[in-house]
Amino acid sequence: MQHIAFVLAAGKGTRMKSEIPKVLHPLLGKPMLGYVLDNLAGHVQEVLLVLGHGREKIIPLYDDKATIVIQEEQRGTGDAVRVALNYLKERGDHLEEMEILVVHGDTPLVGSASLKRLTEAFRRNKSQAALLTAHVERPYGLGRILRDDQGDVQKIVEEKDATAEQRRIKEINVGVYIFEARMLAWALNQLNTDNAQGEYYLTDVIHFILAAGGRVTSVGADDPEEALSINDRRELAIAEEALRRRILTHHMHQGVTIEMPDTVRIGPNVEIEADVVIRPGTILMGATRIGRGAIIGPYTELYHVIVGDGAHVRQTVAEEARIDDGATVGPFAYLRPGAQIGRGVRIGNFVEVKNSTIGEGSKVPHLAYVGDAIIGRSVNMSCGTITVNYDGLTKHTTVVGDGAFIGCNVNLIAPVTIGDGAYVAAGSTIDQPVPRGALSIARARQVNKEDYVETWMARKKEKRVEFKDKSHPEADVEHAAQERAISSSQQKKGTDDAQLS
Ligand code: UD1
Ligand code: CA
Repeated sequence: MQHIAFVLAAGKGTRMKSEIPKVLHPLLGKPMLGYVLDNLAGHVQEVLLVLGHGREKIIPLYDDKATIVIQEEQRGTGDAVRVALNYLKERGDHLEEMEILVVHGDTPLVGSASLKRLTEAFRRNKSQAALLTAHVERPYGLGRILRDDQGDVQKIVEEKDATAEQRRIKEINVGVYIFEARMLAWALNQLNTDNAQGEYYLTDVIHFILAAGGRVTSVGADDPEEALSINDRRELAIAEEALRRRILTHHMHQGVTIEMPDTVRIGPNVEIEADVVIRPGTILMGATRIGRGAIIGPYTELYHVIVGDGAHVRQTVAEEARIDDGATVGPFAYLRPGAQIGRGVRIGNFVEVKNSTIGEGSKVPHLAYVGDAIIGRSVNMSCGTITVNYDGLTKHTTVVGDGAFIGCNVNLIAPVTIGDGAYVAAGSTIDQPVPRGALSIARARQVNKEDYVETWMARKKEKRVEFKDKSHPEADVEHAAQERAISSSQQKKGTDDAQLS
């Protein structure tokens, strides 16, 4: 028996009002089509992805996960399935012994468990078709399930074709079906466009199969939220919110504390170990992983960040970075791609780290930029340390040996190496290697000019008196006007100067 899935995703998604194809709109950072395809993995041997609108944007992302089939003209869900089935026939596949699972690309919350139960019911009942239904509070816009007196499915009627009475039905068609391939091929040939939308409705297939004496099974979704389909941005927000809560609940069940959950967003691929505390206002996205007992937040954004056990990360933005066990980061730190923060390291406030390794136990407690650097163990980078990594053309590396001490406001002009245990005096600008264990001072020597201020003031006052004496009344007026002009032009210039400095 062959099990093949069709994913229908050729529609334009007009109501999204977007340049982006509807199925690429993300929920918690991942395109809705990604959820649909991931959910099918393991259920079927092959996925046929039916594309039309925006296919040039979709194909590069998913052509390794699915066989692409093009529906040139979007003439309805029935037509989309026919296009996929024709592809199989032309390829020479045998429709006997084939089960076809059909899902929509805009219904990303359908659960794997529901797919499994649907497949089981289909096989157990030896049906020709099975469909997933859900009872929802707001069935507006969806296909309604009509049942007979025995409670068996009779047909699906679309909102636009439904009578007022049918519209009151709250059991809806989720858009997930399983068919015997040969029966499906036959029923698709019966379809017509005699309906309110002038389209080939896949939903009519159910009616034709029943009319031909076939057996149709229906299964209720585990959770009505699975039926959420996305046709506009409002529904996108509703589906994302449902998914967000589902993900938070999952982590809480795994032993993660989440404070003020309404303020926390966690992506679908994030892994969190037990006894982690996620504090308010935190966003964890991408392939982020948080080790046991870590505390994340408040107000922290992590994208593709690996955090070790017991680390503490607060008020921090980090992307593509690693924070090892027991390190503390923040408040107000920025870790950019390639930042590797070692065990027990302390990264403090207003520190930016990019493409740098910081060895175990080192400290960068405040106001520093560390870029393209290899920092050893137990190093102290004091307040205001800057790796001057860019000469306007290329980036250069700074190496700081184990146990080195870099004083406040030091510029390390790369490429440069500071030896193990060396000391660099505060205010130094270092552009030559510092040997291990040396003290390096690279700053102008201090000069004290005794009594300078008083003498200088006195001289200044003298000059002013001289000037006044020389001037006659007209010159005085002229002088005042000149001074006003100068001071106002300086005020205007003030902002520019600040940017230059
Ligand atoms: C469809 C169902 C409806 C169901 C609802 C669930 C039909 C006629 N109606 O309605 O019973 O309650 O889904 O969400 O099937 N597509 C194509 N090619 C086409 C037309 C559509 O690939 O020619 C794709 C769309 O891209 C979309 C999916 O099929 O991903 C569903 O199409 P859509 O137009 O959104 O159907 P609904 O009106 O929502
Ligand atoms: Ca839809």
